[in-house]
Amino acid sequence: MQKINTIGVLTSGGDAPGMNAAVRAVVRTAKYYGMRVMTINKGYLGLVNGYIKEAGAGDVSDIINRGGTVLQTARCPEFKDIDVIRKAITVAHSYGIEGLVVVGGDGSFRGAKDLSLEGMPTIGIPGTIDNDIACSDYTIGFDTAVNTAAQSVDKLRDTSSSHRRCNVVEVMGRNSGMIALNVAIATGAEAVLIPEMDFDLEKDLIKPIKDGVNRNKSHFIIIKAEGFNFDGDLEKTIEEQTGVETRTTKLGHVQRGGSPSVKDRVVSSQLGSRAVELLKEGIGNRIVAVKNDKIYDIDIVEALNMKNTVRQDMLDLSKVLSI
Ligand code: ADP
Ligand code: F6P
Repeated sequence: MQKINTIGVLTSGGDAPGMNAAVRAVVRTAKYYGMRVMTINKGYLGLVNGYIKEAGAGDVSDIINRGGTVLQTARCPEFKDIDVIRKAITVAHSYGIEGLVVVGGDGSFRGAKDLSLEGMPTIGIPGTIDNDIACSDYTIGFDTAVNTAAQSVDKLRDTSSSHRRCNVVEVMGRNSGMIALNVAIATGAEAVLIPEMDFDLEKDLIKPIKDGVNRNKSHFIIIKAEGFNFDGDLEKTIEEQTGVETRTTKLGHVQRGGSPSVKDRVVSSQLGSRAVELLKEGIGNRIVAVKNDKIYDIDIVEALNMKNTVRQDMLDLSKVLSI
């Protein structure tokens, strides 16, 4: 394998707290090993259009604690077109880039796979608040996002208790219930609704609220993942079937912002550094990921073929603890 001396780094898809720490780790590790490193602005869009400049160790100062991504990100639907991928590689070569690090989610990894197959060694780093990448126990941004969401739910609980109301809180996660599940356990929710569950209205939603009413509880928190589809009006159904006044809150993009937690900063640093160590040796076409608290790497195609499964133990736990 031919060693690589010049690499590029970009962030893609939805931003996530900790992406900056990953970019910093990529740049600093590359400089540590005497490599050249180029930062690419606006994800794949910037790669195609040449929004590229060389970075030194000092250019990533003061970003480890910042949310969002200083490189900015973009959705670039044209990247599914093979000619656009080939153009991106030509542009990258014109800047001397021999290998790439892509920080993003599942969609970004599909682009990374195509880049690799077309001859640009690329390493993917799981960066999304959703924690929905099958090959990794963890994705950058998840810890910060669930903490942000849990703090908001704590506030909603105050007002919910004061009025003896039910509050349905919708959290992000695309098709995954991981954010919802963790927030539900962390906030002591009465019920959690996630796309991966076999949903039974009476058993999974109405009964837990009625049980709470019988025990004279003062608040009822329902955490709903955005990917969970309810056939009808959830708020009205709860009110009609339990008699408890209900409000709905969608937490939205606030979950994506804020200074990254220590966990997100540390994991991002580890993943960013490992990505560069692989490229340095000429190794591409891999995703660096977390398994049982250890950093490892896996072939991109193999990783993309893995199926993301729900944590049944967490779902069971949320039910046990909400009686
Ligand atoms: P995430 O990476 O967080 O899953 P997206 O699904 O929006 O976010 O994907 C980010 C970007 O990755 C897209 O805007 C597009 O440029 C690229 N991408 C997504 N899907 C593919 C695909 N099937 N092939 C090539 N590139 C893709
Ligand atoms: O993938 C991260 C995420 O925040 C998802 O949880 C959510 O479904 C989506 O991105 C929102 O995307 P956008 O920022 O384009 O509205």
